[in-house]
Amino acid sequence: MKIKRGVSICLFSPKGGVGKTINAINIAGIFKLLEKKVLIIDFDIYSGDIAVCLNKRVKKDLYDLSFDLDGRLFNSIKDYVTKVDENIDFLAAPIDPRLANKFNASNIVDVINYGMAEYDVVIIDTNHALNEISLSVLQSVDFIYLFAKNDPLDIKGLKNIVTLLDENEYDNYRIVLNNSRDPFKHYFTLFDLKKILNHDIDYTLSEELYLKDMDKYIMEGIIVTLDKHFPDYFFKDYKTYLTMATDVFGGDENE
Ligand SMILES: Nc1ncnc2c1ncn2[C@@H]1O[C@H](COP(=O)(O)OP(=O)(O)OP(=O)(O)O)[C@@H](O)[C@H]1O
Ligand SMILES: [Mg+2]
Repeated sequence: MKIKRGVSICLFSPKGGVGKTINAINIAGIFKLLEKKVLIIDFDIYSGDIAVCLNKRVKKDLYDLSFDLDGRLFNSIKDYVTKVDENIDFLAAPIDPRLANKFNASNIVDVINYGMAEYDVVIIDTNHALNEISLSVLQSVDFIYLFAKNDPLDIKGLKNIVTLLDENEYDNYRIVLNNSRDPFKHYFTLFDLKKILNHDIDYTLSEELYLKDMDKYIMEGIIVTLDKHFPDYFFKDYKTYLTMATDVFGGDENE
């Protein structure tokens, strides 16, 4: 296997629908602005949406990659990626959902390592279930972004995963409070959250980032953060994304 070059990040939440996929893509856009080569891996094997959100036709997906790794037919990860632009590629979840069951989870570590050998940043989207795939991803990556909305059910799930990670002495997770997914949910104060979680909220995406025409961006495969007006219209969240991105390089990769 080639020498490690990049860093790996996963987005995880113990509840579904909190904005992991949209933010995996938005953050990929920010890394592109920082002139990084980015690979997004859609390890939401059963219901991955990365290809749809980027409006791309996929020729090979993670099932093909897993099949070829098992059969020793694998040559290069580049044979399985779908290109978005000159900086961003992605590995799609199985397009045929019947093949998702046949994806071999024991290949996850190799897939991530092959990605890190070729790209500056590997961004991994996950399913909210704490299954073999998610656990393997959580154990393998350099950084974990835990996403949650500010409501009782999300925070209950977040508390569970934070406790689990703390008990297993993970110190590589960051908490992202996503107020942009549903701007009307702000049940707990930051003080409450810190007390409940016994951990800081590392990043907050603001209500202002709620985009009522998000589906239009998805239909057109547009990465919101690459819109030339994004830094002007969403300056606060642009700064937050930049901080999230530069923090994984030790905070010294200023654009
Ligand atoms: N900033 C935003 N503004 C408006 N809608 C948003 C925003 N972020 C996410 N959404 C919408 O919220 C829904 C859930 O987002 P997304 O699919 O990214 O969440 P997820 O955590 O990946 O969900 P799942 O667990 O089902 O994979 C989608 O319909 C998406 O379009
Ligand atoms: Mg998703």
